[in-house]
Amino acid sequence: MTALPWRTAMERALYGPDGFYLRETPGRHFRTSVSATPVYAAAVRELAGRVDEALGGPDPFDLVDVGAGRGELLQALPDVPPRWRLTAVERAPDPGLPVRWTAEIPQLDGLLHANEWLDVVPLDVLFDGRLVEVEPDGTERLGGAAPTPLLDWAARWWPQGRRVEVGLARDQAWAAAVGRVRRGLAVAVDYGHVLGDRSDGDRRPTLTGYRDGRPVHPRLDGSSDLTAHVALDACRAATGGRLVRQRDALRTLGVDATPPDRALAAADPRGYLTRLQTANGAAELLDRRGLGSYGWLVRAVGIADPLADVPGDPPAG
Ligand SMILES: C[S@@+](CC[C@H](N)C(=O)[O-])C[C@H]1O[C@@H](n2cnc3c(N)ncnc32)[C@H](O)[C@@H]1O
Repeated sequence: MTALPWRTAMERALYGPDGFYLRETPGRHFRTSVSATPVYAAAVRELAGRVDEALGGPDPFDLVDVGAGRGELLQALPDVPPRWRLTAVERAPDPGLPVRWTAEIPQLDGLLHANEWLDVVPLDVLFDGRLVEVEPDGTERLGGAAPTPLLDWAARWWPQGRRVEVGLARDQAWAAAVGRVRRGLAVAVDYGHVLGDRSDGDRRPTLTGYRDGRPVHPRLDGSSDLTAHVALDACRAATGGRLVRQRDALRTLGVDATPPDRALAAADPRGYLTRLQTANGAAELLDRRGLGSYGWLVRAVGIADPLADVPGDPPAG
């Protein structure tokens, strides 16, 4: 068996010739804000509308979804003006939707959005300053001394742990994505942690596998998803901008979990059911122990931040 550094092994397992994400539909293995409810797409539509307005209604206005899965978010957007150009950035093959489909992030004037992308950007793992290597079945062994940039990252962002999930590749991926925005807004949404969460020494490592909706022991043979929480504060430092909680950002965008009045059930049963489903979807997105605790990295480029009113408070892991 060949052991490889985690980042190389994860890259092959997820995106190699028979990689998990090239074969599998993400929505069949785990629930995201996008797959949970159309309320999320409606909120992204609202945000895009604000960015469009701030830009003065360019033609085209770009809405670029990075790590688009099978294009579920773009398909669920309500009321898309003909002037808007929708682009899915995905390593998986084009499923043939009526949107632009590409593996590289294009330059854009508009909104760049990425939900649960950074947590699947492959990352290095260190133990006591040495690279951790992993075999296809998940067995680990210690490799050589880690390169200096990884050690520097660990010293700055994860100073007390012996085992460190190094977020440098995520910082660089996020900075590169923001760099593609000529004017507009970049938003990355993910589960993660900040320095204070990591200060308890050997905080439970977060690298895990997912298959058929359940966490599994990570295997590097392409049979499961592999994900690790994102060091959100390190990503923010790479680009500037703000880090806010999903529940606060979505509330600012009008997401409301108030259930409809019961009296409506008799007068308009269908309308009541629709509004109840919307309220339930909103409740799931706002849940402070679940999706609501996720972090939003928000970086405005050449416009005022349309989410400036959202209180900034580093999300906990
Ligand atoms: C966890 S899934 C999230 C899918 C969708 N955004 C959602 O929220 O349901 C992550 C997706 O990001 C894609 N991905 C990862 N790295 C990428 C890259 N560098 N460029 C484009 N897509 C990428 C994967 O192929 C996968 O479909």
